[in-house]
Order: sequence, then structure tokens, then C-alpha cells
Amino acid sequence: MKRGLPEKRPITNVGKIIAVSSAKGGVGKSTIAVNLALAAAREGISTGILDTDIYGPSIPTLLGLEGLEPELDRNNRLVPLTAYGIKAMSMGFLVPQDSPVAWRGLMLQKALTQLLFEVAWPKLDLLVLDLPPGTGDVQLTISQSLELSGAIVVSTPQDLALRDAVRGVDFFKKVNVPILGMIQNMSTFVCTNCGHAHDIFGLDGVRRECANMGIELLGDIPLHPQICSDADAGRPTVVADSESPQAKAFTILASRLRTTLGMD
Ligand SMILES: Nc1ncnc2c1ncn2[C@@H]1O[C@H](COP(=O)(O)OP(=O)(O)O)[C@@H](O)[C@H]1O
Ligand SMILES: [Mg+2]
Repeated sequence: MKRGLPEKRPITNVGKIIAVSSAKGGVGKSTIAVNLALAAAREGISTGILDTDIYGPSIPTLLGLEGLEPELDRNNRLVPLTAYGIKAMSMGFLVPQDSPVAWRGLMLQKALTQLLFEVAWPKLDLLVLDLPPGTGDVQLTISQSLELSGAIVVSTPQDLALRDAVRGVDFFKKVNVPILGMIQNMSTFVCTNCGHAHDIFGLDGVRRECANMGIELLGDIPLHPQICSDADAGRPTVVADSESPQAKAFTILASRLRTTLGMD
């Protein structure tokens, strides 16, 4: 019998897989994952998003797909839903939003395995995984059972968040997942009244940390009330207001990622 780590498996029909992660919740990981996936799709890359945050799935809300249920195909695989040109799958489609689930041990593994390997994706160039916060069981299972092209770590620029983000980077190094880079979120706020740019959590924390660790800063997303309200309304900024500066920040991020992944 084989011992040790589970073997890494591909996901049927899926090309590159990237994980969007963060050490903390609430730093904008899901918002960035979904806007990034939509921006990639707009560049002609066939893209899917897989919400692996099984404790607090938010992709159904962000894509305006709340309350919908995926069908099963002939092989009992979950058929992903479609929104704004991308494919999406989430635990949020399988359990009602208002019933918190207390996943443990085997149940968690089973649910996660179903999400990872029993989804009938069409042919995709890119699958974006929205990870739960932190570096726990889900991150470990994903990094050990999938051949990831790499991970992106999202952080806000203040010191406390950064310290955790560095731990996140170390985690992926330890499990041999390439770090594609970091994303700084909620840095500059441009006042909608006076037009002045305020750096709420500091200006350059993530850039500095990237330089320290020798990794790339893939994107810098401003703090903008519209990013939040578009997300709440189920129509992410990249779709809702595609020519705005805040949407452009995601477009730039997608094209940098494309280059980093060698998909140009
Ligand atoms: N750049 C931003 N500007 C304004 N609000 C943001 C931004 N990024 C995220 N948010 C808001 O912050 C909250 C947390 O974001 P979310 O993506 O759910 O974080 P996470 O997935 O890391 O827990 C949400 O209400 C979201 O709309
Ligand atoms: Mg989230």
C-alpha cells in the first residue's frame, strides 16, 4: 500500500489552476478572485471560479446566483453555473446560505473532494480557486491534491495584516506551491467629493514586503465604495462599470497574471 501524501490529480478539462488566498478573512479575497476571473474571461481566457470557502461561501452572492442549484450530469457530476461569461461552483449552491455548516474531519474531506474533482467543467484555460482564510485543512488538502500553477496572497497594507500575509506566503513555500505574487487591496481611497487620494491603511506596505521576499506585486486595488456595492448587488465592478479606474485595476491584474502564467 502507498503511504504518505495523497497523489496530485488534474481536474478534468481544466488547464491552469491558481489559488487566491489570504491569512485573514475580510481582506477582499473573494471580491478579487471573482473580479480577476471576470477580467481574465474578458481577455478571451475561458475561466471558471471555484469557491472552496466551504465555511463562508460568497461566490453565489457575488455573481448574483444566490438560490440557484446546480444540476447533476449523467455521471453524477455537478454542472457549474454560468454568470457574465464565467463558470462557477460553490458549496453555497449545495447548502442553504442561512444554515451554517460545522464541517469536520471526513465530512469536510468528502465535501471538498466533490468540489475539487466531481464538477463537470467545460474546457477551461484557467480555474480560479477562492480559498477560505488562513492556512488550515482546506489549504493543505488543496495544495497536496492539486497541481496548482501557483498561489496569490491578498493583503491590506497595514502591518498586522502583512505579518499574517507573510505567514501565508511561507505556508505555500513549505508545501511547494509556487507563489505567483501578492495583491495589495484597499490601499488608496480617492474621495468622491474632493478627489483627494487618501492612503487609509498606508501606501506601500505590500510592495515593501514583496521586495523583502523577492516576490512580485501583481496588483494594487484601491478602496472604492463601488467595489463593495457592486459586489453586494451581485454584479462585480469589472462587469458593472468596466471602464472605471477601479475596474481597470482588475484588468491590469489579469493581464499581469496572464504573463506570469505564460498564457500570452
Ligand atoms: N477594494 C475594495 N474596496 C471596497 N470594498 C472592498 C474592497 N475589497 C473588498 N471589499 C469589501 O470588503 C468586504 C470583504 O471582502 P471579501 O471579498 O468578502 O473578503 P474575504 O473573501 O477576504 O473574506 C466585502 O464587503 C467587500 O465588498
Ligand atoms: Mg471570502
